[in-house]
Amino acid sequence: MARRKLILDVDTGTDDAVAVMLAALHPALDLVGCTTVNGNVEVQYCTDNTLRVLDHVGRPDVPVHEGLARPLVRPDFPIPRAVRDLAGQIHGRTLPVPLSARRKADASAVEFLIETYRSTTDEITLVPVAPLTNIAAALTLYPRLVDRVPEIVIMGGGHEIGNITPSAEFNIWGDPEAAAIVFAAKFRKITLVPLDATHRALVSYDDCERLRALGTPAGRAAADFIGHRIQVHDEIQRMAVAGTTPVHDAVCVGYLVDPAIITTRRLHVAVETTGTLTVGRTIIDTHFRGGQEPQCDVAFEADARRFMALLLETFAR
Ligand code: RIB
Ligand code: CA
Repeated sequence: MARRKLILDVDTGTDDAVAVMLAALHPALDLVGCTTVNGNVEVQYCTDNTLRVLDHVGRPDVPVHEGLARPLVRPDFPIPRAVRDLAGQIHGRTLPVPLSARRKADASAVEFLIETYRSTTDEITLVPVAPLTNIAAALTLYPRLVDRVPEIVIMGGGHEIGNITPSAEFNIWGDPEAAAIVFAAKFRKITLVPLDATHRALVSYDDCERLRALGTPAGRAAADFIGHRIQVHDEIQRMAVAGTTPVHDAVCVGYLVDPAIITTRRLHVAVETTGTLTVGRTIIDTHFRGGQEPQCDVAFEADARRFMALLLETFAR
């Protein structure tokens, strides 16, 4: 069976790192490349961390293209110190895996996205799990991107839950104007995996010990990354179950391999870009009040058991 091709747009980060390893190691997936963007940490650290993780799991063949260092419009990035500290605590500037011996690719993220989708005859799923700055920039320069991408799978947003403000989720909040452009574009298929879903695929310390017991580079690294996330979440953003953490970005990759990991509803999604209290909020029209045609398949449920089984199966390699 042909492997499913994908490009991951990341702000690596601890959960991005698990997503990268899952995409790099699962036999049903073909990770064409990674693009990085300002988000959890400054973009140069996202690039360095992504190179480190790929090399750590034996995939130095996967190119990493560095992207935009600032949001399209917001003037207050890099992230305000207080927020950076939050992201910094959950992610840290440099991941605890060895420095990569190789360099980032010469082409920038936006150039890579445009050139790849302009020239390919392959179906390549686009999986942004970070602020949508690169994607919006590529759309602006190459509007036909919406016809060339078979499906875009976005980690972002929240209906009942915010994590960076009471109202907004980090990736969308990190570049609201970019997100508004992406959700308004006419992609062939948009799958949105918001916090409402990722907070239902919680991973525990016991799960981390099962990952570590695999004895593989990916298993040990995943246990380290996720274990750190649990520790910080218990301190500053406790989950419904203490001693657990969401691994947001990896749920998007898991869905590509096992669609039953999430359950979706077809709804209209828009992004607030101006509200003082609500900037960066995804407005998910769950009761069809807005009269706008639904354009997203939005995940409100996730299966933690299936998700964890996939991580264990894949990282055993
Ligand atoms: O809100 C969760 C998202 O923000 C994840 O993608 C995490 O990596 C951070 O970028
Ligand atoms: Ca991310």
